[in-house]
Amino acid sequence: MSEQISKDNQIKDGPTLSEILRNNQRWASETKERDPAFFERSATQQHPKYLWIGCSDSRVPVSQITGTAPGEVFVHRNVANIVQAEDPSCQSVLEFAVLGLQVEHIVICGHYKCGGVHAAIQGTATGKVASWIKGIAQLYASKRKSLEKLPDEARLKALCELNVGMQLASLASSPSVQQVWSQGRALDLHGLIYDLETGLLKDLGMSLRGPQDLAADLL
Ligand code: CO
Repeated sequence: MSEQISKDNQIKDGPTLSEILRNNQRWASETKERDPAFFERSATQQHPKYLWIGCSDSRVPVSQITGTAPGEVFVHRNVANIVQAEDPSCQSVLEFAVLGLQVEHIVICGHYKCGGVHAAIQGTATGKVASWIKGIAQLYASKRKSLEKLPDEARLKALCELNVGMQLASLASSPSVQQVWSQGRALDLHGLIYDLETGLLKDLGMSLRGPQDLAADLL
């Protein structure tokens, strides 16, 4: 009970809702001033080159860390950047992105110190989150022998990276990606990781440009 009370009393970071609405008005007018046709264009079309699949973590804001503008990145985020075949939300975003919008690149972006990955190591998740991250817990169990030799922080970092690889393999085997590749259309898949401590993205060197790149060790 006392834990509950202290949680409720936590001071949250960030603006009030009315401040958010004021910020929005300022952004809209500044954007229009810079580019008078911006909203007219934006309201009628989107041609993003990228689909980004990332973690819901509030510290990994896609547009800010990638310097991309509205219209440039189609986004799906969930706890621990997971791509599951049976998840209708992620799979429908994926289907629309590759078949409808015809994006040319898909990025799976993990991040170090990911709470979802950490919970999979600790076995501390409860409720919906526990079942959502089950695949990462299984991944950890399968790599436990080598990962347990690492100190805590390095172990979490390694599992965050391994998770990106596992999700990339899941993405590559999805019906939407398979369909595009079988048509011979260019679609590159990339695995990145974001470091909360430096603000830097790292390419994990796992890019897949077709079924021929789907190495067995990624699975
Ligand atoms: Co996370």
